[in-house]
Amino acid sequence: MEPELVALLEPSKEPGAEILVLTGAGISAESGIPTFRGKEGYWVIGSKNYMPEEMATLAMFELHPEQVWRWYLMRFGVCRSAEPNLAHRALVALENALCDRFTLVTQNIDGLHRRAGSSGARTHCIHGDAAYVRCATECGVGILPLPAIHVDAGQKDLTSEQRRQLSCPHCGGWLRPHVLWFDECYDEENYHAESALRAAQTASLLIVIGTSGATSLPMRIGVLCQQLGAAIIDINPEPNPFSAIAQRAKRGHAVRCSACKALPGIVEYLTGRGV
Ligand code: OAD
Repeated sequence: MEPELVALLEPSKEPGAEILVLTGAGISAESGIPTFRGKEGYWVIGSKNYMPEEMATLAMFELHPEQVWRWYLMRFGVCRSAEPNLAHRALVALENALCDRFTLVTQNIDGLHRRAGSSGARTHCIHGDAAYVRCATECGVGILPLPAIHVDAGQKDLTSEQRRQLSCPHCGGWLRPHVLWFDECYDEENYHAESALRAAQTASLLIVIGTSGATSLPMRIGVLCQQLGAAIIDINPEPNPFSAIAQRAKRGHAVRCSACKALPGIVEYLTGRGV
């Protein structure tokens, strides 16, 4: 491992040092899930193409609930058939070694951290989790598992059975994906925004993996950690706002390679055990 990296990691081996890990779509790229800003994201309604930024909105759901559900069900199908990779497993090993000194904040709704074995108690899914739904009218039914629904690529409309499965068992209104939409705000109740910021206030090391820094809460976390003097490591093959923060920070380093290549060595160094 590079000497700068060793020097940054060393203080986090002290008892009491807290480590915060922030992940984005890049950590799941090596599991075969396309990153968010890839080319293939558009969706056709009638004769018009829509980008994810237009589909993943409350406004679009209110206008075309069935189309938004079909789009999500296709995307969730990709997540369900993907498997956690070495980088997801390395974070589980880190959590198991550090216990309450470890927090994971993820922007990913693909469930791969959970399926790899990261604990619900120490993982904050700040953009939600595709495996769950809740009532679109917020009738109080709570967070429910996504019903097992398969949508064929050529299927234009939902069947009446699929519509029934996507109805709230309490009030009969539409269920919605338990994910944060582009025209909505972060909160604690559904997306653990305050918990994520609290973890940033006490972390002595922030490890950022595979995110382009396009959303506000992750950027606040990066800036807060830098201001409070935490060491910052960014793992991403491409330059991005977090690598810029890491390079500006008193103690920071940008690791320009993939998550599966970089993370196992870092975790092995921190835990003293192979992944
Ligand atoms: P993006 O698709 O914007 O960025 C993915 C990042 O991963 C890029 O910086 C890539 O360079 C990097 N990357 C690609 N392959 C990698 C690999 N093997 N290892 C490490 N890094 C790799 O995805 P996010 O930053 O996660 O939010 O997007 C953030 C949010 O934007 C999403 O959660 C979504 C969207 O708005 C909501 O829907 C609320």
